[in-house]
Amino acid sequence: MTATAIEAPALEVEDLEVNFISGDKVTYVLEGVSLEVRKGEAVGIVGESGSGKSVLARTILGIRPRGTVVDIRGTVRVSGEDQLGATEAQIRSRAGALASMIYQDPMRSLNPTVRVWKQIVEAITNRRRVPGDEARSRAVELLRSVGVPDPEARALAYPGEFSGGMLQRVGIAAAIAAHPDLLLADEPTTALDVTVQRRVLDLLEEVRAASGMGLVLVTHDLGLLADRTDRTVVMYAGRIMESGPTSIVASEPAHPYTQGLLAAIPRLTGPIQRELPAIGGSLPPLSAPRAGCPFAARCPLAQDRCAISRPPAVTVAEGHTAHCWAVADQQDEQEAAK
Ligand SMILES: Nc1ncnc2c1ncn2[C@@H]1O[C@H](COP(=O)(O)OP(=O)(O)O)[C@@H](O)[C@H]1O
Ligand SMILES: [Mg+2]
Repeated sequence: MTATAIEAPALEVEDLEVNFISGDKVTYVLEGVSLEVRKGEAVGIVGESGSGKSVLARTILGIRPRGTVVDIRGTVRVSGEDQLGATEAQIRSRAGALASMIYQDPMRSLNPTVRVWKQIVEAITNRRRVPGDEARSRAVELLRSVGVPDPEARALAYPGEFSGGMLQRVGIAAAIAAHPDLLLADEPTTALDVTVQRRVLDLLEEVRAASGMGLVLVTHDLGLLADRTDRTVVMYAGRIMESGPTSIVASEPAHPYTQGLLAAIPRLTGPIQRELPAIGGSLPPLSAPRAGCPFAARCPLAQDRCAISRPPAVTVAEGHTAHCWAVADQQDEQEAAK
């Protein structure tokens, strides 16, 4: 027998449930979320604002909100290592698997009073001891690799001295400094103009291809994922509605929610849309667990049972799944016609 180790996926999330408890108020955010990202694979997570994408990303990283009790069930593993039992500090300092995040607003993750090279170095030395000059030249190399011009000089600047697009590059440099197995990008481009957005996303794609890490790209804009991710996971009100190869999900979506999302993508470049003109209504309240399908109240194909009974995961094609009663019926009809 050959000793070929089967490499653990960059990320495994199994049946994740996250509720926030504050006093006697419970917010039911995520339910039954499962997904896998292999090393070298790019996966998009898409869903409108409030659907739980950032909570999912932060839970994966081990970041817990302060002042709130978080009730988490299920499994999260990064390169095979449990993320839920460990503290944030343990996750940062341990030698093995690491996930790192790029935030929507890099100012939130960068300290405005510290020169950028030091912040990049901090990301490296959180994990292992590195001599001072080596860490510094590595910071400069990282800035160069993410396309910051004149990196020797720019390394000495403060975050406030960079444009939005350049600052996002600094954030990427800091995020990849410690060679994470998994990089999460939470709406990394929403604050940027369209051309700069594309450049930052293309850079992330280059970084992923060069490093072999897993990439999770979180966005409310399905249009941004095309050509940039292998697979797409569509979330709504804390649940996965559909998942499959990005090209298929974006061209032949099976779930009525994804169909609505696609119809809402502006055809021409314009202001970033946060609402779905194609689908009326808004997200259900998260103050109670969602019975049935959370999209039922807005769904053009809703039947009585959708409000009561949780839809099954229907395999539309290999690797393409939709959680929907209407899709289940369509499949049954196709089977019967055979
Ligand atoms: N610490 C918290 N306590 C209570 N509710 C929270 C907390 N953090 C997020 N939420 C709620 O979780 C839901 C999902 O939020 P979020 O993950 O930020 O959505 P998205 O990133 O998809 O826009 C929102 O209703 C939000 O108000
Ligand atoms: Mg978010």
